[in-house]
Amino acid sequence: MPGLPASAYTDPAVWAAERQAVFARSWLCIGHTQELPDPGDARTFEVAGWSLIVVRAADGALHGHHNVCRHRAGPLLWHGTACSGATRLRCRYHGWTYAPDGRLLATPGFGDDVDRDALGLVPVALDTWRGLVFAWIGPDPAPFADHVADLDAAAAHVPLETFTVVRRVQHTLACNWKVYVENYQEGLHIRWLHPGLAAEVDTADYRVVPRGRCVVHHVAPRGDDAVNAGLWVWQWPTLALNVYAHGMSVERIVPTGPASTTIDYLFAVRDPSTDTEAALAMSAQVTAEDVAICEAVQRNLASGAVDPGPLSTVHEQSVAAFHALLHHAMARATAPTA
Ligand code: FES
Ligand SMILES: [Fe+2]
Repeated sequence: MPGLPASAYTDPAVWAAERQAVFARSWLCIGHTQELPDPGDARTFEVAGWSLIVVRAADGALHGHHNVCRHRAGPLLWHGTACSGATRLRCRYHGWTYAPDGRLLATPGFGDDVDRDALGLVPVALDTWRGLVFAWIGPDPAPFADHVADLDAAAAHVPLETFTVVRRVQHTLACNWKVYVENYQEGLHIRWLHPGLAAEVDTADYRVVPRGRCVVHHVAPRGDDAVNAGLWVWQWPTLALNVYAHGMSVERIVPTGPASTTIDYLFAVRDPSTDTEAALAMSAQVTAEDVAICEAVQRNLASGAVDPGPLSTVHEQSVAAFHALLHHAMARATAPTA
């Protein structure tokens, strides 16, 4: 089975098509409810060129909007920031003011000729699954229960709700999002690229099993105290849950451009008194090794020297499963409507 052509990772037209076909039309994990625990908490989330704002209203409900004022497109919150105690959202440019549910309340300096009812914030559908917040950026969200069904099955035995978020770490990569997703999908590279991780897991007994919109990694630890023993599961299109003995990392693969991606980790622990330094150090080491290879692959794809060759039918069927989900999303977006 061949891989994707090199142009799929470099062509700005492919990126533009994926923004609409994949990222505007999928449920995307954007964070954790523990990042917005109280009424008035608000923060931005950026994905695929969109800036979103999520705010918890006085009644406890979460509301999602594009972080784009209806006057002249100013932000309600600066890119990458958060606030607390917000009863209203005020644009940073000329002060138009919105309710947490998106209604336009005030337009300082304007008369009564502004149709406020027609100029609310553009909504983004939100839903939550076991503490994680998901957003649907485009119109007509698909049923959320369908999206999380495979993830539900894979993680049913893990008490995710009881974990406490303790840290957020971001890495910026100079590669297309698909290069990193494909890297996540297979354990074939572990023995070659990750010597520290290879010492902890039995790479000869490493299996990846596609299940609908998920790929589940079956990883056997080498010893009882191996810090990387547990469940690793990826969910279409850009979420990975890595559950370890001490807790988990919620790994979001956030596309930011045709050749740029941010890896956004939320680390959560089973017991807040646990010393997580060893686990965090291992994660940082493995991520640094993955960043190096993904950026090298991106440079080589961009050189035009070759198109990717065959995928292993034993170790990389999960990469093929990712490609099948991608093809389905792209075909669905271009299919004529009846
Ligand atoms: S752009 Fe928001 S008030 Fe002008
Ligand atoms: Fe890796």
